[in-house]
Amino acid sequence: MSLPHAARLIVALDAPSLAGAVRVAHRLRGLVGTVKVGSILFTAAGPDAIRRLRALGFQVMLDLKFHDIPHTVEASCRAAARHRARWLTVHASGGRAMLEAAVRGARQGTPRGVVRPRVLAVTLLTSVAASSGSRRLVLARAGAAKAAGCDGVVVSAREARAVRRQCGRRFLIVCPGIRPAGAARGDQRRTTSPAQAVEAGADWLVVGRPVTGAASPRAAAAALLDAMRDT
Ligand code: C5P
Repeated sequence: MSLPHAARLIVALDAPSLAGAVRVAHRLRGLVGTVKVGSILFTAAGPDAIRRLRALGFQVMLDLKFHDIPHTVEASCRAAARHRARWLTVHASGGRAMLEAAVRGARQGTPRGVVRPRVLAVTLLTSVAASSGSRRLVLARAGAAKAAGCDGVVVSAREARAVRRQCGRRFLIVCPGIRPAGAARGDQRRTTSPAQAVEAGADWLVVGRPVTGAASPRAAAAALLDAMRDT
């Protein structure tokens, strides 16, 4: 079966030390182009993590899920843009003014001649179990993110199709909570397989433990990319 479009893979380097993250990153070079630095690695290693991973040739998604008053989020996004993160995340639940401030901060912090980081709004954590209201909530938050000028959302692939329908083709859809067949779910709840996520219209898939915890992270990432290409 041919899939609708080529989604790409982001590997979440949720390691508690820069050395550990770099060890995995080395194994992914030439296969995966983007890695994610979240609160575990950033708290341990700070902006050095972004610098080192960029120096290895990776684009970096800085997933700190900012959620604060607009002034604080604006300044945080400005700083993150200066570190040349390619993507930033904020919580969509922070509201319209906070989301607008995030986009403004990202724009202001971008060095001349560099592409502004894409601002992604996290709609609802994929570790939260589905409830009758979750789709409505995700769509309301995705709509607010788009209206505020965000470039896309982080959503479960279970809601990707509905978000695509509502927000259009150019709105970025990034999906975590991906679990290949047989992989442990861990704390994730609204999971999908890589192929299901691609079929649902995800532009990017975020995968952490199934890659970083594998005996061979490179083989695990290659298997994921295969699964994303064809089912
Ligand atoms: O290890 P795993 O594949 O579950 O990692 C998923 C990554 O995506 C984690 O770094 C997590 O913080 C992040 N994430 C998520 N759900 C969201 C937003 C981000 O799992 N809604």
